[in-house]
Amino acid sequence: MKYFFLSYLLVAITVVAFAGFRGHKFENTPFELLPDMDDQAKVKYQVSSNLFADGHAMRKPVAGTMPMGFNVPSQPASEGYTPQDIEFTHGTGYYYTGKMGDFYGDGLPPEVELTPALLERGRERYNINCAICHGESGNGQGIFVKYSTVVPANLTDMGLADPAAPTFRPDGKLYDVITHGWNQMGAYGANITVRDRWAIVAYLRTLEYAAKNPAK
Ligand code: HEC
Repeated sequence: MKYFFLSYLLVAITVVAFAGFRGHKFENTPFELLPDMDDQAKVKYQVSSNLFADGHAMRKPVAGTMPMGFNVPSQPASEGYTPQDIEFTHGTGYYYTGKMGDFYGDGLPPEVELTPALLERGRERYNINCAICHGESGNGQGIFVKYSTVVPANLTDMGLADPAAPTFRPDGKLYDVITHGWNQMGAYGANITVRDRWAIVAYLRTLEYAAKNPAK
């Protein structure tokens, strides 16, 4: 029994020696086995720097920079914010969400007028943002498929004008896919303004119409 108490005391002393009492603060710099990226050559906020002529290390954003973490306004800030942009940041209507209540709506919202200019804008934005994956004709065979095992959807089969079709996607759903992405497809809401998303939706329908009604 004597030896038990002795060894117990020894273990207790050893633990305290290594771990210390709780709340004890070490003054020494901790030894870092894996420093990760704790130490980097960088400038911190609000410090001076002689690299730039004005002596500030922090740079002003480039003119026309959009604030991140907010929805993208419908036009560059240099052209001013529209009432729609202000609504947009809190917008809950069909124009901003593609939804009517809990359901995707169909058709263009009243804010968007179907004109040749809108379709032209949609064609341009589609070719910039979507064609790389979904193909210029919307058949899902963009150059992306050569380099990937992921298969982009065939956008010429979204049940145009046929809500009974198993592939039917209402316009609001197409809008929502652009805004938030879908399964393996990423979100493009940060890159494409609300109005341009609707322009793309309108253009998608023309692609679908063209695929279903080939020129004779
Ligand atoms: C990087 C490749 C890529 C780009 C760029 C891309 N998509 Fe997709 N998209 C996909 C893939 C992959 C799927 C299939 C996702 C899945 O089902 O997992 C898809 C699916 C879709 C769908 C079908 C959703 C459904 O309900 O089945 C729509 C609509 C769509 N994309 C529209 C667009 C539009 C419009 C753009 C341009 C703004 C765009 N995509 C840009 C890869 C892409």
